[in-house]
This record gives sequence, structure tokens and C-alpha cells, in this order.
Amino acid sequence: MEMNTRPDIFDKCHGDGGYYGGQRVEDDHYFTRPIVDPIPGRMMEFEGSPRIMWSVNNYLGLAENEEIKQVAVEAAQTYGVSAPMGSRMMTGNTPYHLQLERELAAFTQKEAAILFNYGYLGVIGTITSLAGPEDTLIMDKLAHACIVDAAMMAPGQVRVFKHNNIADLESVLQSVEKQGKGGSMVLVEGVYGMTGDLARLDEIAALKKKYNFRIFVDDAHGWGVMGSQGRGVADHFGVQDEVDVYFGTFAKAFASIGGFSATTKAVRDWISYNARTQVFAKSLPMIYVKSLQKTLDLVKNADANRAKMWENSDKLKNGLRELGYFIGAGESPICAVFAPINGRQTEEVGKQLVRFLRDRGVFATAITYPVIPLGLCMFRMIPTTSHNDDDINRTIEVFRQMRDELKMDLKFNGEDEAKITRVYGKSAA
Ligand SMILES: Cc1ncc(COP(=O)(O)O)c(C=O)c1O
Repeated sequence: MEMNTRPDIFDKCHGDGGYYGGQRVEDDHYFTRPIVDPIPGRMMEFEGSPRIMWSVNNYLGLAENEEIKQVAVEAAQTYGVSAPMGSRMMTGNTPYHLQLERELAAFTQKEAAILFNYGYLGVIGTITSLAGPEDTLIMDKLAHACIVDAAMMAPGQVRVFKHNNIADLESVLQSVEKQGKGGSMVLVEGVYGMTGDLARLDEIAALKKKYNFRIFVDDAHGWGVMGSQGRGVADHFGVQDEVDVYFGTFAKAFASIGGFSATTKAVRDWISYNARTQVFAKSLPMIYVKSLQKTLDLVKNADANRAKMWENSDKLKNGLRELGYFIGAGESPICAVFAPINGRQTEEVGKQLVRFLRDRGVFATAITYPVIPLGLCMFRMIPTTSHNDDDINRTIEVFRQMRDELKMDLKFNGEDEAKITRVYGKSAA
């Protein structure tokens, strides 16, 4: 019998294809998959020396909180690291999971909530369980990968509207109303985690008066950060009641692991029995369940942390703006610094600037396509409660050196400008 000459499924792994293929081949652990100190904080070690860290989502500084650590230690002593064993459906349900879900529901002003082990899995599980073959999912163009993946996995139709463009959303809703057979759900992020702008939830919610649809908000970056007591972006806009599924992850302001969907009791029950990412997965470990109860109490009472985070965010944004950098929408604490590309190679610019900053003690990450539109290069910086004035001043000084020593022209050409306008709906000038 002749040997089969078809390609090997692993062939691709030997070339430089795939996402960030060039960097995978280089395997330098500098630009991608850098090896950093495991303890999150304002300063973190990278390549043997401390750097001011602007790339971790520790918004409220809770990663360093001793009370939370203590609860986790006690939980580990009592329950070990495995408990509970099994999925919630079988042997992984405990009174503590139910209690935490009740507390999350009460805080988000919804009837019920369901826990997930990761935000990514929670979004996938929630959306895929709710969307049937006749339904239409209507997604913002810049929605996070987990929303995109969920929409691709779901059996129904997917429609995409221009980022935060309410007129475009309305025209999609109109056409779905005419052609769609089943129900529909609009999928947005609360705070767009990369670019720092907010979903126009007030305007999206207002469209419910004219069209029949549900709203799902993945508020990974708004939960704990925005709204009264950190209830999130829907609360910030005063439209929590109009949001049908409010989703939060614990991986950012809550400095932990896991996520939840909060909604009506009937919908929560449906998700509990149909979200495959949870039905067929082990339950959230007790260490997290117990410590998250503590974290939730702290977050509710963390107005001082939020005030400090905003103060730090304003100082960083203003300082960089004064140097002439273009900073994205200032509606969330996220400081998105766009580097002018002006016809050069995006990746080359990104690498040069990242190295300049890190060599001078400032750890920032360059974000490029496919995370943001093709041809843009951006530093997504997360000011947190833990940063201090020295960190901010030193960072601004290093950005000044970068501008001057690299003779950066901070003006955008028309093409870059148009791309940024597409992100924020307004000019970068
Ligand atoms: C908007 C958004 N949704 C979901 C996730 C995934 O959350 P987790 O890290 O908890 O899986 C992230 C994290 O990057 C995110 O930014």
C-alpha cells in the first residue's frame, strides 16, 4: 500500500504563521509571553530588575490585600486546594457557592447569578447556552475574543455593528426585525478593555423602546471599577434594569479568578443547566469562593481605592497628553496611548518603543492587530490604586525621553487618524 502523502496537521507549527508567528519563532520572552515576577503590584521584576508595572489589571490594588490572602490561607487549610471535587451538577455544589451567587445577584440588582471558573468560559457558556438556531447575536465590532468566539460557536445568525456606532446598530436591529425569525441579543463590553471607551449603554438601552432585543454586557473592566460602589458600567449609565445579562470577571479589579452572569432567576436556571463550559467542568474551588466573598465586601466599600485609582489615572493621562501623546477616550481609568505609525511597520515601531520604555524601568505592552484595528500601535496602560506619584512622574519622564530621543512625530497622518476615529467615533487631533 502506498504511503499517504497528505500534509501533517502539525506542519504549520514549524513555520512563522499564526498569530504573532514571528515572535513565536524568536521565542524571546520579551515582547510576547514576557517572564515577569508572579506577585502583582506597582513594581514587578522583569529580566532581573524592578519595573513600574502598567500592564496588570489590579485596578483597586486588591492583589496585595492581606485580609484576602488570610481568608484564602484559612480556606486552603480547611478545604485543601481540590474542594469541591466535581461539577456543580454532580458533587461540586456547596452552600458557599450558592451564598456567593446570592450576594452577587443582590449587589448587581438582579434576581440571580451563576458562577463560572474563568471569565472567558463564562461568556462562552452564557451566550452559547442562550442562543438557539433561529436567534441572532448582534455584536460590537471590537468586542473581546470571548464574545467573538461565543458568537461563532452559537448555532444562530451573527451580525456585527460598527464599534459603538448606535446608528449602525439601529440599522442592524431594523434588518433583524424584518428578516430574523427568532430572538436577538446585543453583545457588548461595558468598558472596552483595550481602548478604554465605554459602551453607549444608555443609547443602546433606549433602542429597546423601538426594537425587541436583549442586552448582554461583558463588564470585565467595569466591574468593581465603575458605577456606585463598583457595580459597573450599566449602573454608571443608570440602565442596570435594561441590561438582561450582566457579566463580570474576577480576574481584574477583584484580583482573583472566575466570573459570573447575573440575570433573572429563570434565565440563570437555564444557563446553569445548559452552559457547557460549566456543566462539564469542575466547580470553582473553595479557596476562590471563600476569598471572593471577602473581596466583594471590600469592593463595595472601596470608594477610597477608586478615588485614588482615578487620581492616578488623571495624572498619568494629563502628563502624557501635555507631552503631545494622543490618549484615547478618558471615560474609564484605562490610559490608551497611541503611537503614530505614519506608514511605518507597526510591529517594528511597537518593538522599538517597548524596548525603550522597559530599558528605562517602565513596563508597558504594545498592542497591535488583531487586538486593535490593523495598522495601529497602542500602549494600554492600567493605572491602579497602588501606583504613586513617583511612578507616574518617572513614567511621564521616560515618555518624554522617548519622544525627544527617538524624534517622534506625535502627529497622526490621515490614515492613522481615520483608524482612531473609527475606534472612538471622534478625531484623534
Ligand atoms: C472583556 C473581557 N472579557 C472576558 C475576559 C476573560 O476573562 P478571564 O481572564 O476571567 O477569563 C477578559 C480578559 O481579558 C476581558 O477583557
